[in-house]
Amino acid sequence: MKTKVNIGLLQFAPVLGNIALNIRKINHLLEKTSGIDLWVLPELASSGYNFSSKEEALRYSEPLNDSLFTKFLIKKAKALNTLFVSGINEREGDKIFNSAVLIGPNGITGHYRKLHLFNREKEFFEPGNTGLPVFNTPIGKIGILICFDWMFPESWRLLALKGATLICHPSNLVLPYCQTALPGYALTNQIFVASANRVGKDNDLSFTGQSVLVNPNGEYLLKGSPHNEEILSYGIDLSEASNKQMTPFNQAFADRRTDIYSLHEKDFNPMVQMEKRRLRIEVKQTIQELSFDERLSMSQNIMTQLEKHSYFQKANTIFIYWSLPDEVQTHDFIKRWMGKKKFILPKINGDQLELREFTGISDLKPDEKFHISEPTGRLVNDPSLIDLAIVPGIAFTSGGARLGRGKGYYDRTLPLLNRAFKVGVAFPAQIVKDIPTDGNDVFLDQVITV
Ligand code: ACM
Repeated sequence: MKTKVNIGLLQFAPVLGNIALNIRKINHLLEKTSGIDLWVLPELASSGYNFSSKEEALRYSEPLNDSLFTKFLIKKAKALNTLFVSGINEREGDKIFNSAVLIGPNGITGHYRKLHLFNREKEFFEPGNTGLPVFNTPIGKIGILICFDWMFPESWRLLALKGATLICHPSNLVLPYCQTALPGYALTNQIFVASANRVGKDNDLSFTGQSVLVNPNGEYLLKGSPHNEEILSYGIDLSEASNKQMTPFNQAFADRRTDIYSLHEKDFNPMVQMEKRRLRIEVKQTIQELSFDERLSMSQNIMTQLEKHSYFQKANTIFIYWSLPDEVQTHDFIKRWMGKKKFILPKINGDQLELREFTGISDLKPDEKFHISEPTGRLVNDPSLIDLAIVPGIAFTSGGARLGRGKGYYDRTLPLLNRAFKVGVAFPAQIVKDIPTDGNDVFLDQVITV
């Protein structure tokens, strides 16, 4: 994956109710550009912002699958070999959403609808119903927030916990506070923030410009002018946002006291959740049909394959699990390699998995809730020490998608292991064609089966 990337901010003044003219303005600003990996455009860049009625807002909205604006951006993404995150006035039936699209040379690859509507937007737009997705792109994981969403720290935190290294922020800011607040969000979440604001006036509303790019230290890398239409760009290394370590003893995410407070994402896509529940039941049943001896012999085969890979041979520190009867068995493997490799096992603490050193089988203690044997060794403060992660699950695709037990422990933990090669281990009955995803789910580098 390319992590050294050029980010572009396109700051302009969309004209209210003139999609064709806004396309021409954007096209003009992009004319002499090249080498930008991702452009961020303002909120409602297609239509302008300050509508006088819902009817007017509706008139300048477009369905995503039949939109002059997205067609134009797709064409530009192809021509410039780039990605766009842009605000758009989106129509669905007789409803409209203040939305953003992620667009690449192959079309629309991401879609987000503003959760927190500002002021009179509440008269025109439906509140967002896409949750807070994180999109896998060729340059890494990207989250999107739109303008007033910035006021809600939970949105930033959730996207960052879900692995976003860059949050793109199409905006039409009328107040001057956001540009000052963004370094705080970038710093506390150790992420990059790219905020493209508009300039100019829409009827009686003025917008504050000063689009910014901020790094994980909370430093401005770019800051636009308050009034001018302009493009700004800067080269960054997105891998800087994968390392959450702050001191040898402090890790921005792992240090959260989730035994005291927590942040849970709700099931925002009931269809996806339902399909996952169905798949879990179906796969669990087929595992139950295997005898324990069959599971043990397949597990031996899987672990022998794993041992042949260079990522295993080179690994010093391995994150693994102490298997339950219905999982690929790891006990013999751990016994065989203990002393030669350093093993780290998970221990549940609140809604997080703690990483603890494995110090011997007799030191394992069952947890009170799930009766899983858990390590009692030293807490590992720096997850970037882990070279290899061996991950259980209920179901996997051969492409690396994973379905867990539904609590999200691994989806929250795996993004912290920024250096680790991540391998899923699965009985053949656990390999499925497709796993529905709502953007929370972590992808593995490889899945090994019999
Ligand atoms: C805003 O959310 N457009 C201020």
